Amino acid sequence: MALRLRAWAAWAAAVVVAAGVLLIGPAATAAPTEESEPVPVGQTWNDTSGNPIQAHGGGFLQHDGWYYWVGENKSHNSALFLAVSLYRSQDLQNWEFVGDLLTQDTPGVCTTGTYDGAACKIERPKLVYNESTDKFVLWGHWETAENYAASHLIVATSDTIDGDYAIVRNFRPGAGEVATEHADPTYAGTDGLWGYGSRDFTVFQDPDTGQAYLVSSQDHLSMRLYPLTADFTDVDWRSSYPLFEGRRREAPALVKIDGAYAIVTSAQSGWYPNQALYATTSDIADPDGWSELAPVGNNTTYYSQPTNIMTIEAADGSRRYLYMGDRWNPGALGTSTYVWLPLQVDGTELTMGFHPEWTFDAATGTVQVPNVALVSEGRPVEATQADASYPPGAANDGIAYNRNTSGDNTNYYKPAGVPFTWDVDLGRKRDLSRVDLSWRSYNGSETYSGYTVSGSVDGETWVALADRSANTTVGFTTDGLSGRYRHVRIEVHNVVNDHNGNGAAWAAGLVEVQVYAKVPGCAFTGADRPA
Ligand code: GAL
Repeated sequence: MALRLRAWAAWAAAVVVAAGVLLIGPAATAAPTEESEPVPVGQTWNDTSGNPIQAHGGGFLQHDGWYYWVGENKSHNSALFLAVSLYRSQDLQNWEFVGDLLTQDTPGVCTTGTYDGAACKIERPKLVYNESTDKFVLWGHWETAENYAASHLIVATSDTIDGDYAIVRNFRPGAGEVATEHADPTYAGTDGLWGYGSRDFTVFQDPDTGQAYLVSSQDHLSMRLYPLTADFTDVDWRSSYPLFEGRRREAPALVKIDGAYAIVTSAQSGWYPNQALYATTSDIADPDGWSELAPVGNNTTYYSQPTNIMTIEAADGSRRYLYMGDRWNPGALGTSTYVWLPLQVDGTELTMGFHPEWTFDAATGTVQVPNVALVSEGRPVEATQADASYPPGAANDGIAYNRNTSGDNTNYYKPAGVPFTWDVDLGRKRDLSRVDLSWRSYNGSETYSGYTVSGSVDGETWVALADRSANTTVGFTTDGLSGRYRHVRIEVHNVVNDHNGNGAAWAAGLVEVQVYAKVPGCAFTGADRPA
């Protein structure tokens, strides 16, 4: 066991080295407890009663010694509102269902203005606690059942975190005073002053000042940032300002790290994933203070869409930051999974690598990831003939992000046809751990690829390592590998348009292939190191 503990400590230290400055936690000197299980990334996650967690488009609140996770219950596999559900945990891994904060029986939940529907939509719920009123305030994006034209916010409050929540507002900021281009079909007046539409949103409380903010997509072109009023149940729309005008961003998540605010957003591709972009500012009140948008994560944000960034405060007051994303399954929304990943911060630079599993040590508040090394980047590649502008080496050049915000990707290997193969020579035999594949992703014609992964010692005799011929996951896949091999081959058999099941060889391509190998644990140091 001693050896295992020391290996874990070395893993944590390696993360620090790899990340430069690591804000997810100091170099952990303690091993995870025997019980700490990995947080499932992109896999079914059951609550403590054994039911899949239904908390999509989620929010996070640390309160009174508990971590709370609030989100959309989509167990009925529909976009329509069923319930906003609350879970709680002590360790981020085991979540107990607390209850539904809003249900179809909550008075007025689907009623506003001229609309009195039997059904409606409530998305991306966020929960904040207001110290001055001693109330919990729940925000949601509200729409009628028919479409996304109302673009409302819904607000409910409760004296206790687990309810009963009463609706206090269902509105557009500035309604009755501001005229905008996008009409609200539920607006009761005839003056056209229906206010700022508000779609994907987040609510964020500054952990240092206590001030809360709301950011939402105003229409399909811009976002808008509003301070919340002192009781957190309304926005001060007069102090709001437009953000990322014309950039078509949505799914905002805000965080404050070392005095700088960072906002992570997605592009617009419905339930399908795309490249997240982030921007930072040191002065959230200054509309012109925001940096240019820059990519974070890979071209599909590891097949996820941002919903929140958790700020976890450890007992010693230090903070960790975890990205919360949704891996939507458009065909069965209730089976959508969660992609939670440690965010790494260096100054105002955000990075987010993929870790198929990580553990959280609640006692020290540290996140630990297994120690693996990327061994394929820049190594020699042989592949099926490629389009000259998209050579095989583009798939292991270290650029896994996409500069386009819509349509096609910018940097990838494009084979002349399908099937195709792509082989990398790792230089020497490596103890393989996994391969992450960032697939070319075409917004509007998203595809999945059937493929196999094989390994070879000599580049001649190949051994099957993973068979994903039946893969239907778009955008990003990860496969555990084992064995010692020098060569790794990706063989793609077919590319299928997920929207209609048609073959889509024209959309074939690999943005990045990342082969990871196990790094031997540093179980021996100094004098006891074997010769
Ligand atoms: C996405 C949005 C989701 C949901 C979906 C509906 O763009 O982020 O929250 O509204 O569209 O298609």
